[in-house]
This record gives sequence, structure tokens and C-alpha cells, in this order.
Amino acid sequence: MKFITAFMLATGLMAAGSAQSADMPEAAKKNNCVVCHAIDKKVVGPAWAEVARKYKGDAGAAARLSTKIAKGGSGVWGAVPMPPNPKVSDSDMKVLVDFILKLAN
Ligand code: HEC
Repeated sequence: MKFITAFMLATGLMAAGSAQSADMPEAAKKNNCVVCHAIDKKVVGPAWAEVARKYKGDAGAAARLSTKIAKGGSGVWGAVPMPPNPKVSDSDMKVLVDFILKLAN
């Protein structure tokens, strides 16, 4: 977990000054997604608008992304891993995945 703390320290200042988090859903703030993600720019993780474009038209994307967010992982956007987010409730997960995938519209 040490490396995650380092990321948060490194990106915390950037994220704190970002107006982007204002546009993020409450569930993203509550679950700390905003520490690493913004809507239209890369922070630690990919911009959510980029994620939406990548999976546009992919009917299995919502289910796969829910699992990925809960379990974490790396290799899709680069070598930096997303840590697991096991505390996200089912309803928050649905809100988040819907929100992300709709950004491509
Ligand atoms: C510590 C930083 C961090 C946090 C916190 C974080 N992410 Fe990520 N996220 C990443 C990184 C890094 C990646 C890229 C992983 C990869 O390349 O496979 C990523 C990837 C993603 C992806 C794309 C996955 C894929 O396979 O294409 C989604 C969707 C996502 N995050 C959503 C979330 C949501 C929702 C939350 C909050 C519950 C969250 N993230 C919290 C760092 C983070």
C-alpha cells in the first residue's frame, strides 16, 4: 500500500486544485475516484471520457469495468495499476459505470 500513498501525495496537490472534480458524481467523490481520475484529462488513471470512447458500443463493458474497478488491475492504459476498490457499494458502482460509459455520447 506504500506506493499508493506515494501516488496520492504526488497527485493530491494537482487533484485538489482541479475544477474537474466539481463535475464528478457524488459517488466518485465519496469513493475517492477523484484522487486518480478526472473527466477529460489523465491524472494517475485515464480520463473517464477516454475510457468511454474506448468501450463505446461494447455491450460487455459495464460488467467488465465493474469487476475491474472492484478488483483493480493494470495493463489496459499503462503499467500503473489501479488499486482494488472493494468498498464501493453495488448502487454506487452502477452510478459510476453508467456515468463513465455515457461520457462517450
Ligand atoms: C490510486 C489511483 C486510482 C484510484 C483511487 C481509482 N483509479 Fe481507476 N484507474 C487507475 C489507473 C492507474 C487505471 C489504469 C489501469 C490499467 O491500465 O489497466 C485506472 C483505470 C480505470 C478504469 C478503466 C479500466 C479499464 O480496464 O479500461 C475505470 C473505468 C476506472 N479506473 C474507474 C475508477 C473508479 C470508478 C474509481 C473509484 C471507485 C477509481 N477508478 C479509482 C487509478 C485509480
